[in-house]
Amino acid sequence: MTKKAGKQADEALRKAIAGFRLDEPDLPPEIDEAAFRSGNYPHKEKLKSKLYERDLHALQIELLKAQTWVKEQGERVVVVFEGRDAAGKGGAIHRFTQHLSPRDARVVALSKPTPTEQGQWYFQRYVSQLPTKGEIVIFDRSWYNRGGVEPVMGFCTPEQTDKFLHEAPQFEAMLVRDGIRLFKLFLTIGQAMQLKRLHARYTDPLKQWKLSPIDHKAVGKWDAYSEAYDRMLAATDTVDTPWTIIKANDKLRTRLAVIRAVLANLPYPDKDEKLVGGQDGKIVLSAEHFLA
Ligand code: ADP
Ligand code: AMP
Ligand code: MLT
Repeated sequence: MTKKAGKQADEALRKAIAGFRLDEPDLPPEIDEAAFRSGNYPHKEKLKSKLYERDLHALQIELLKAQTWVKEQGERVVVVFEGRDAAGKGGAIHRFTQHLSPRDARVVALSKPTPTEQGQWYFQRYVSQLPTKGEIVIFDRSWYNRGGVEPVMGFCTPEQTDKFLHEAPQFEAMLVRDGIRLFKLFLTIGQAMQLKRLHARYTDPLKQWKLSPIDHKAVGKWDAYSEAYDRMLAATDTVDTPWTIIKANDKLRTRLAVIRAVLANLPYPDKDEKLVGGQDGKIVLSAEHFLA
């Protein structure tokens, strides 16, 4: 594409995004075409499903080895999944837990706080979900709501977010000092990809259940979320509790990257180092690199 054509395409995309409506029957073609590469996604093509199936299968076997080790050693593991609406957290969590023993791996997806919970210490309802020995607990959204959805949607005051951002590292430091292995994964997608996925949820009867009122509102709140998340990641990325950022436009690559990010940092025996060490450095970044 020439420079001029490129500029025109950018302008057309900008307009399509500005005029985007979830309830239009058709996704604007500019958004559809831009989705995969949006947010500077580094790959040009989706991962081939054959390669995906092969690696997923092998990595799920590794997860079982890791789970056996967690049980035998009485380890406690927490994996926090964060990211924008439609980033693909649910699908990644599904593949992560697919073959694990449900008795020893739990997914926690809390809904909005009840009046009782609202009267408690902010972290309290999350604390009560933390693992006992031998358990892996996965948080599909977490205490980080107070850094993202709550300030953006006006569910908390700015002072509450300030306090949260100050306290989250202290809270997490206590967890890891007590021996909990904490993983914080942030799935990031481009704006056109988010709109494409939200539109599909609106249109596809099999996906409609996924579309919440919050998702509807997310359409106009891209910039507010960007600001909130940048601030959240900067404030809560520490040496002992770092974030792992995963560029998530390609769902299949995302799922493999998520599993590798966790396995690479669990010292379980008989690890297939070559498989687990094959992380895709193009889509997995430190917070520092992401925010740079
Ligand atoms: P999800 O993206 O997990 O499918 P939603 O899009 O409905 O769920 O909501 C996003 C997050 O916002 C959830 O973690 C939910 O608990 C939280 N949330 C929704 N409403 C409120 C509220 N009034 N106060 C605080 N948190 C809320
Ligand atoms: P990089 O890996 O630094 O080249 O990231 C390139 C792209 O990732 C940017 O053009 C953004 O779309 C996205 N990105 C990187 N950092 C941020 C950030 N702090 N907030 C939102 N998006 C970001
Ligand atoms: C996702 O797709 O990231 C999760 O399923 C959350 C959501 O519904 O957006």
